[in-house]
Amino acid sequence: MCGIVGCVGRDDAQDVIIKGLKSLEYRGYDSAGIAMHNGDYINRTRAKGKLMNLEQKLAKDPLIGKNGIGHTRWATHGPPSEKNAHPHSIGGVSIVHNGIIENYLELRDQLKSMGLDIYSDTDSELIAHLVNIEVKKTGELASAVKNVIPQLEGAFAVLVLSEKHPDEMIAFTNGPPLLVGFAEESFIIASDLLAIMPYTNKVTYLSEGEIIYINKTNYKFFNNDLKEIQKNIETVDWSDELVEKSGYSHFMLKEIFEQPRSMAKSLEPYIDVDNHSITMPELEKHADFFKSVEQVYIIACGTSFYSGMVGEYLIEKIAGVSCKVDIASEFRYREPKLIKNSLVILISQSGETADTLAALRLAKEQGVKTMTLCNVQHSSMDRESDIQTYMNAGVEIGVASTKAFICSLSVLNVFSGFLAKVKGNFEKSEEEKLVKALLATPSHMESVLTYDKFFADAAERLKSYKGFLYMGRGVHFPIALEGALKLKELAYMHAEGYAAGEMKHGPLALIDEQMAVVMLAPQDDLYEKTISNLETAKARGGQVISIGTIQDKKLKELSINFLSLPEVDWNINPFLAVIPLQLLSFHVANALGHDVDQPRNLAKSVTVE
Ligand code: F6R
Repeated sequence: MCGIVGCVGRDDAQDVIIKGLKSLEYRGYDSAGIAMHNGDYINRTRAKGKLMNLEQKLAKDPLIGKNGIGHTRWATHGPPSEKNAHPHSIGGVSIVHNGIIENYLELRDQLKSMGLDIYSDTDSELIAHLVNIEVKKTGELASAVKNVIPQLEGAFAVLVLSEKHPDEMIAFTNGPPLLVGFAEESFIIASDLLAIMPYTNKVTYLSEGEIIYINKTNYKFFNNDLKEIQKNIETVDWSDELVEKSGYSHFMLKEIFEQPRSMAKSLEPYIDVDNHSITMPELEKHADFFKSVEQVYIIACGTSFYSGMVGEYLIEKIAGVSCKVDIASEFRYREPKLIKNSLVILISQSGETADTLAALRLAKEQGVKTMTLCNVQHSSMDRESDIQTYMNAGVEIGVASTKAFICSLSVLNVFSGFLAKVKGNFEKSEEEKLVKALLATPSHMESVLTYDKFFADAAERLKSYKGFLYMGRGVHFPIALEGALKLKELAYMHAEGYAAGEMKHGPLALIDEQMAVVMLAPQDDLYEKTISNLETAKARGGQVISIGTIQDKKLKELSINFLSLPEVDWNINPFLAVIPLQLLSFHVANALGHDVDQPRNLAKSVTVE
């Protein structure tokens, strides 16, 4: 989950690396460092804490050189500290690493038994030792790396600088994302397109087991055996404005407000607006398969898992196909027995989450067709799945996922309609109704965003509760879980999401005057039942904030705050109900003085188990 950036052949290499690390800070932000080759020597600067600390050091004492590597860390082995920060430099070799070396204990013992000193607590430093040993033996950077790779087990993307090879850089990956940008007479290598975007749109994604070797303005791709391979350079499409805060105080707030537009964009490729019909051409190629699907499994983590839970309701109710949802980290270890004629859907914003990727591979091993719903194109999952769909949410920078969640919901709605259609379970009138409802959703979302001011004003009061219980039924149960997750991760407060009907089986004991109860009660077919759950919570002193359908007098009477949502179909409610919960978490966390875009202990892309 760390972010790595390398730059070869630019006078402004230090700035390019720091700017790149800034855009990758979402991947980890507990320490950072940079190493630059000045033609004679490699110099290195590292700092504990946010990138800003490294920048301050560099402002006083800049590093010189055209080639360099940088790293922003999310600690796995060894606590955040300067000594554990990358780059790790041993002898004349400096490396940055993203991933985990699983056999690090054996390697450590092996290196110690050779009389070598180990300076940090990290697994990554060992790579620098191994490359240094091999460079001394072979005198060549590429051959050295070829000899080191087989000694490493686990997931790793690594950039290497060598003092003896001032014009060269080598990068290799065994899983974590790594791509190379080809700018004018220079190269930028990074974990994410974001670090490359300002300089070039010509890129190549390295696949597992691939190496790029750069020498001045020449480059070659190799496989692990150092056999040269040919790879295409792609031209990618983007706009810089995607990664700016555009006047918002935080990326998260910008992304919350972007949601109506993102939702509309997510639908674009999948809807024929003129005919009010669903068009998924890539999926239509597999129409016979979809027709035969008897069971759908949705597998994901965190917020993506909650969108999958909503997906379960959509697929069962709209397409009439049985659907099961699983947390990827559980699925992969419980020896799942997938039935024939089933489809496994993997949902992942990043497309890199280690557990979800492992679940995808497991499903493929069992011979079951896999379909991804990712935001990041060319991500590992996107590349490995049999069928691809996309959230089309645009770049999401805030560590807490918001617009990707909304866009997953919209694609899951469309997919449910698609499945219903190929199975012959969908009347044209039903298709039209679904499409029209989805197309009208962005403007409803706009109206719900006006609750921003309410939460900005209420945050001081809300932050003093001892905890929050979020409750909902049906499609609002996963939304309750998502609301609680957002508050936990941003405000560091105790929050739980519950299926409202479960309250009497235990959680009611938690309720008193110090407990806020956020009740999701739009007027759907479970409304009456939800209201009785609400009465029960209120009778125990719960401070009820309710979110329901417009002009609900009953709900208003029962609540200290009532937030009304436009009246929409049951499958559209989640798009609207989640927005107040995102705003609540944002403003409470902000009022508590937390770093909303980069909450403690977290990183956006969880590429480790
Ligand atoms: C919470 C959040 C995480 C991610 C989870 C899965 O706000 O962002 O729970 O949803 O880490 O990430 P992806 O979707 O990239 O697989």
